[in-house]
Amino acid sequence: MTETVHVPLEGRAYDVRIGAGLVAEAGRHIAPLIHRRRVAVLTDQNVAALHLEALKAGLAMADIEATALVLPAGEGTKNWANLSHAVEWLLSEKIERRDVVVALGGGVIGDLAGFAAAILRRGVRFVQVPTSLLAQVDSSVGGKTGINSPSGKNLIGAFHQPALVLADISVLDTLTRRDFLAGYGEVVKYGLLGDVDFFDWLERNGPALAEGDAGLRAEAVRRSVQMKADIVVRDETEQGDRALLNLGHTFCHALEAATGYSDRLLHGEGVAIGCALAFETSARLGLCPQEEPSRVRAHLKGMGMKTDLADIPGTLPDADALLALMGQDKKVLDGKLRFILARAIGRAFVATDVDTDVVRNVLAEALRGR
Ligand code: GLY
Repeated sequence: MTETVHVPLEGRAYDVRIGAGLVAEAGRHIAPLIHRRRVAVLTDQNVAALHLEALKAGLAMADIEATALVLPAGEGTKNWANLSHAVEWLLSEKIERRDVVVALGGGVIGDLAGFAAAILRRGVRFVQVPTSLLAQVDSSVGGKTGINSPSGKNLIGAFHQPALVLADISVLDTLTRRDFLAGYGEVVKYGLLGDVDFFDWLERNGPALAEGDAGLRAEAVRRSVQMKADIVVRDETEQGDRALLNLGHTFCHALEAATGYSDRLLHGEGVAIGCALAFETSARLGLCPQEEPSRVRAHLKGMGMKTDLADIPGTLPDADALLALMGQDKKVLDGKLRFILARAIGRAFVATDVDTDVVRNVLAEALRGR
């Protein structure tokens, strides 16, 4: 069964379709968007080996021909060189304003392909076919596209909404457990930021979902996407509420920078640890009851996820250095660090006047626990 979450942005509304087997049915879903039976697919080597032939076959079922560019896999791909390569390739393939670019992959491919589509001929439409849990619940929805700069992650980009998102639950079966759980960090984030009932549901169903229950996986993706869609419709360009989606991310970005954006820490793992730290900070500031951070950590630990700084292999810099890395976060406003904190599980808010000494102490203590 396919579920649909509609994202009703005026003039740029689109569907996120969620279900098993959507890659095989891609042609039927994409056909109404195109003016000629040809699309350009951007993907990476790992995803191409697993899913490109299936996508091409699914498109061929609707007589849609696909040409594909296969980029290297990994965060390092989100750079100017690959963006330029992708855009020049799309031009050489004569992709026109009325054509559609298909992003087949995780967050890296979705962000790069979306940005390439945003700037190609001043904007062509694109379809997201997210193949990681993280991309299905977060990066494929909401129109944030871009690449990394040597100065930081995602510092170059554009808001460009997809024309359609096809979240095929069956492709999640090909993820390693580590990648699946990293994506699950973003799922937990939704419960923590805005829906305690969803967090309760995850506490009950998380283990079966991680074991592979497709119905539970589809439900977790649907609820996450619905929450994201609601927030994006309220605040597309992150002037306010959309920042709530960054719960755990200020800590995460510092930890990712400190670990060199390497395999030591995946983005979703950093989000999970960052959420635990954000709840710890909230409790220290007297904003939420002390039981809340313990409950957050218990769920993450119970799922076998990275939860504490001690779970990150190798050395980390001290608390001051981590705080300095937070200062590089692009969400700094007027020189003040902005944090997403919480009054309880499911009640996050944007805090702009956080005492950095409290954050330093939380980090120092978390580092001592290593
Ligand atoms: N990943 C956060 C956002 O889309 O706003």
